[in-house]
Amino acid sequence: MFARRNGSAWSVLAPAKLNLCLDILGRRFDGFHELESVMTPVALYDRLEYSPGSLGTGEPFSFAALPWRRDAPLAPAGDDNLACRAVRRLADAAGIEPQGRFLLRKSIPMAAGLGGGSSDAAAALVLANAAWGLGYDRPRLAGLAAELGSDVPFFLAGGPACCRGRGEIVEPLAALPRLPVVIVKPPQGVSTPAAYAALGLARGSAPEHAERRSGSSADRLTAAWRAGAWSRFRTLVVNRLQAAAEGLCSAVDAIAAAAARLDVLAHAMTGSGSAYFAICRSANHAHRIAACFRGQRLGTVYATATCP
Ligand code: C5P
Repeated sequence: MFARRNGSAWSVLAPAKLNLCLDILGRRFDGFHELESVMTPVALYDRLEYSPGSLGTGEPFSFAALPWRRDAPLAPAGDDNLACRAVRRLADAAGIEPQGRFLLRKSIPMAAGLGGGSSDAAAALVLANAAWGLGYDRPRLAGLAAELGSDVPFFLAGGPACCRGRGEIVEPLAALPRLPVVIVKPPQGVSTPAAYAALGLARGSAPEHAERRSGSSADRLTAAWRAGAWSRFRTLVVNRLQAAAEGLCSAVDAIAAAAARLDVLAHAMTGSGSAYFAICRSANHAHRIAACFRGQRLGTVYATATCP
């Protein structure tokens, strides 16, 4: 993730993400779930912009959010937005007052498992660091990112990665081929804490499948992705939060059933839902699959691809 400069203005593109696999290894004593996930950015973006603001307006810092696409969600403004809290957190760490006008242009659906809020927060750290000339290096920003949310360090690192711990331990995966994907977001969302709570795991316990687990499914998926062994994707693209999310949002189940009837390489829910993705063989194939999903009116459909 990088800040671009245009005169005194700056901007950062904040991508959405997919969890190509998401394994839950157990629930920790701090309440978070220990996980292992292969995550990748996808070419569906929010954009965060910065301008220094005019002197003498009496408003040194502001944070606003606007829809970017016509069908985009209305994001919270001010401190209700994680990206605004990220700006304030960085200013606090640097011992300065936050300043300038921040404008978030939203495209990524919310409560979708696409990581939009976390990506915006990572973008806010990168943008404010550049615009204010703080010169923080990435490890220092990553420390603040992990405080803001489990997925924020992944977006800060940029590119596909295997994420462990509660999500904040990021191992970048280099040189993986681009995957054409179709994403379907039903109108209903899923709350992340509710999806994790629906797993019903007591603190300090592990789910049954984790007890029987032999080796890392994330490592197997990464190896198949690197080798282009697409026939192995069908069994490796699995999300252990999906059943819990289906119990909270029947639309996920309906999309899963529709995806199972289509000729795609693999399909699963992303993150804690409610968005669902199908991996396709080519961009043309993705456009055909997107048309099939659109015909079924299951939600908003995006034909896109993973970012290297
Ligand atoms: O870290 P983040 O603020 O994104 O997490 C939101 C919520 O999701 C947490 O409060 C927790 O309920 C749940 N969560 C979890 N285990 C994780 C990540 C998130 O239980 N690894």
